[in-house]
Amino acid sequence: MATKLVVQGGAPLRGDVAVSAAKNAALPALCAALLTAEPVVLENVPALADVDTTRSLLEQLGGVVSADADGSTRVHVAQVTSNEAPYELVSTMRASVLVLGPLLARTGLAKVALPGGCAIGVRPIDQHLKGFQKLGAEVFIRNGYVEARASRLKGARITTDLVTVTGTENLMMAAALAEGTTVIENAAREPEVTDLARLLSAMGARIEGAGTERLEIEGVSELGGARHRVIPDRIEAGTLLVAAAITGGDVTVVGAEPRHMSAMLSKLEECGAVVTVSGDRIRCQGPARPRATDIITSPFPGFPTDMQAQFMAMLGLADGISKITETIFENRFMHAAELSRMGARIDAEGSIAMVRGVRYYQGAPVMATDLRASASLVLAGLAARGTTEISRVYHLDRGYERLEVKLRSLGANIDRVK
Ligand code: EPU
Repeated sequence: MATKLVVQGGAPLRGDVAVSAAKNAALPALCAALLTAEPVVLENVPALADVDTTRSLLEQLGGVVSADADGSTRVHVAQVTSNEAPYELVSTMRASVLVLGPLLARTGLAKVALPGGCAIGVRPIDQHLKGFQKLGAEVFIRNGYVEARASRLKGARITTDLVTVTGTENLMMAAALAEGTTVIENAAREPEVTDLARLLSAMGARIEGAGTERLEIEGVSELGGARHRVIPDRIEAGTLLVAAAITGGDVTVVGAEPRHMSAMLSKLEECGAVVTVSGDRIRCQGPARPRATDIITSPFPGFPTDMQAQFMAMLGLADGISKITETIFENRFMHAAELSRMGARIDAEGSIAMVRGVRYYQGAPVMATDLRASASLVLAGLAARGTTEISRVYHLDRGYERLEVKLRSLGANIDRVK
């Protein structure tokens, strides 16, 4: 039986809620363990479907993944026993491409199924592959698989054509074990990339410029084990703050990193929410009705594409017209059609969505199309009149740890039913 989330809208959310560790920092951190024969211990890996997929992938490659008594996750890849990430895993999770760099650097051979398209766009990995070639690897595409080979990677100067998060991560991991110095220009500055640089440095890598668009990596011949605490999930934190704003509630997220969230906190304020930051706590007091605002997604420190759908749900109820421009992915407005089924008035064409705010949403059966789209439907359901039933919840479970449990602790009427 398929699982659904059933939401009775209308309850303003109130209270404190803890933020989990970032999915998009945990996944590369797990893959980084492939770079060393010693164990890597991650203190706070979130319980997510994508983490389970990564665990299966690491085990497939020869890793042993276990839980320490204190709840930490230990990944030990004493030996790489397979160099291949199979299609079954890559097709369920694109982030599987993150094993390419480490496998290639450690063993000289990596075979990974080409990820292909996904719900939010084509998403090629050409920049990863061009970078590996710059580092001296031979790269072939055969039978739907990418195969990269190199006896030892050599440091190089790489300028990516566009800013790519996992591309930067893959190249940084590969360069960490290359011979000589690598410079990556136009590098992604996302906090998740910086967190990976911090872990790699703890493993013995020499990396300068993390958090800037120029990374300089002096290759070393070997990396060792390390213990690492993954950064808080800025997208989960942002989603919970929008839940407060859209319901006119008053929620404090605890254990967040406000410095990673400036763009979205400013937008929340523009929408009329009162945002108060104190250390790792961010309080959001929602307005009676959100104000319209315009949003353009862009690489960090710009407004994150991973928060676009959630803000669209809120702006759909705003007083006025909002323009949302999506610059990162070409097909990331699938939620607009589902929100329209709840009464939203959204015209999405190409990279622009015009959102004409309505006074209220009506509960409706809706279908999640991707991870962040499912979060936007949950948010709309929290604010709607009546009952919203969201199907294809597995999208949500890929990237949110017990979202409905956290929302329920804040007073939401939300249940998971079979
Ligand atoms: N791109 C290329 N060629 C490449 C790489 C990227 O054309 O070789 C394009 C993509 O198609 C896209 C743009 O460049 O249009 C940016 O893509 P990027 O590579 O930065 O995305 P990603 O690394 O595949 C990560 C996150 C996404 C997040 C994006 C953008 C992980 C595991 N995933 O994806 O997270 O949306 O960066 O910030 O870190 C999510 O969590 O819901 C999610 C989709």
